[in-house]
Amino acid sequence: MVEIEELSEGPRMERIGAHSHIKGLGLDEDGKAKKIADGLVSQIKAREAAGLVVLMAKEGKLSGKAVLLAGPPGTGKTAIAVAMARELGEGVPFIQLSGSEIYSAERKKTEVLMEAMRKAIGVKIRELRNVYEGEVKELDIKTGSSPYNPFVKVPQEAVITLKTTEEEKRIRIGPNVAKQLMEYGVTEGDVIMIDSKDGRVSKVGKSSESFSYDLEAEQVVPRPNGPVLKEKEFVYVLTLDDLDRMVAKRRGEGIFSLFLGAEEKEIDPEARAAVDQQVKEWVEKGRAEMIPGVMFIDDVHLMDIEALSFISRAMESELVPIIVMATNRGITKIRGTEIESPFGMPLDLLDRLVIITTDKYGEEEVKDILKIRAKEEEMNIDNEALALLTKLGAEKSLRYSVQILGIAGAKARSKNKEKVIKKDIEEVATRFSDVREAVNHLKKYEEELLK
Ligand SMILES: Nc1ncnc2c1ncn2[C@@H]1O[C@H](COP(=O)(O)OP(=O)(O)O)[C@@H](O)[C@H]1O
Ligand SMILES: [Mg+2]
Repeated sequence: MVEIEELSEGPRMERIGAHSHIKGLGLDEDGKAKKIADGLVSQIKAREAAGLVVLMAKEGKLSGKAVLLAGPPGTGKTAIAVAMARELGEGVPFIQLSGSEIYSAERKKTEVLMEAMRKAIGVKIRELRNVYEGEVKELDIKTGSSPYNPFVKVPQEAVITLKTTEEEKRIRIGPNVAKQLMEYGVTEGDVIMIDSKDGRVSKVGKSSESFSYDLEAEQVVPRPNGPVLKEKEFVYVLTLDDLDRMVAKRRGEGIFSLFLGAEEKEIDPEARAAVDQQVKEWVEKGRAEMIPGVMFIDDVHLMDIEALSFISRAMESELVPIIVMATNRGITKIRGTEIESPFGMPLDLLDRLVIITTDKYGEEEVKDILKIRAKEEEMNIDNEALALLTKLGAEKSLRYSVQILGIAGAKARSKNKEKVIKKDIEEVATRFSDVREAVNHLKKYEEELLK
């Protein structure tokens, strides 16, 4: 599949800036949590439990189940979900959505969920291709008049001599390849690769053997060895959603793309089925490997019964990511019904849960977390400032103090100050409210309106 080469962005990491300090779960070989490791502080029981879940996932024993992180706000639920994805390996997709985010006027909520799920599954595709690779020794491009416009000259064919440490080969190439060579500005001394089948050209760099006056920082590479025509392995990581889009686009290249041009909002189920089948075939042939990632659903109590049932049904399928949910609610109404239930979840979902609870932090722990954040944002912070932030964290919320730290740091940096001091924190903290303050503020006005 040639199309695969067009999108090789790899899995995306979304909105996890506040958790960039987290590198893993910080466990030792026996799965015991170290007090501070991999950017995580304390919350020992939850981290060890998360470690066991990762083990289960790696052994394929988590199928049909989902993880629920239950705990008050700011107790590291999101942090632990991020850590789990990191623990699963490099490049493992992590997709985050909130229970409230699936409702939009334009798309069905099941469609939003399906898309998120497929974004959270990576496919590592290996492909062997025959390529001509070598340093360009001679290049002769013949041009002629364009068939569409006689006044315009276009490349018609080219003869190119490619050189490796072992041999030299002269090849004749057609107009499409010649055009690419011109577009890329390929000249003698460049190391290039031409796909033998589809003629795609890639410029690898400038050969270290060639002499060039070009002072631009071009990538210098050794002259390739081996034969000019050779088999090479290429590896791409795409998500199922990337593949869906490529297939849907190809199918849509009929009437729709003529009129709409833009991407369609929904991907039809047939395109997804085709992708699933293709991927399974690749896996069987050893050409691809699945990389299930983490789909993290925050505030899961905001999802209604339909969305929740969709998720528990999806867990049955083979191509499913590791589903990690979080909530800070105990018994509450299942949205869309009058039924009260733990975490606002229907029974079929409750039955599938692996539950991990998180506890509130003490002052010492808040302080340690803030220290790690300060380091992550490369800022110096003095003891007084840290003490004040810790106090704010304990009184208001951890998230609030992490935020204030970030803002104070950005402000100090913009003024070229070396250190964040207590005054900086005070200044920022008086300007921004935490959630409770903001709610009280709005209540005040609501009461006035009712008078
Ligand atoms: N145990 C921890 N170790 C390190 N950082 C943490 C820990 N718990 C929370 N954090 C950080 O504190 C902030 C708030 O935590 P978060 O994970 O958003 O809490 P929750 O999801 O439970 O509301 C985030 O920046 C998070 O990365
Ligand atoms: Mg969270």
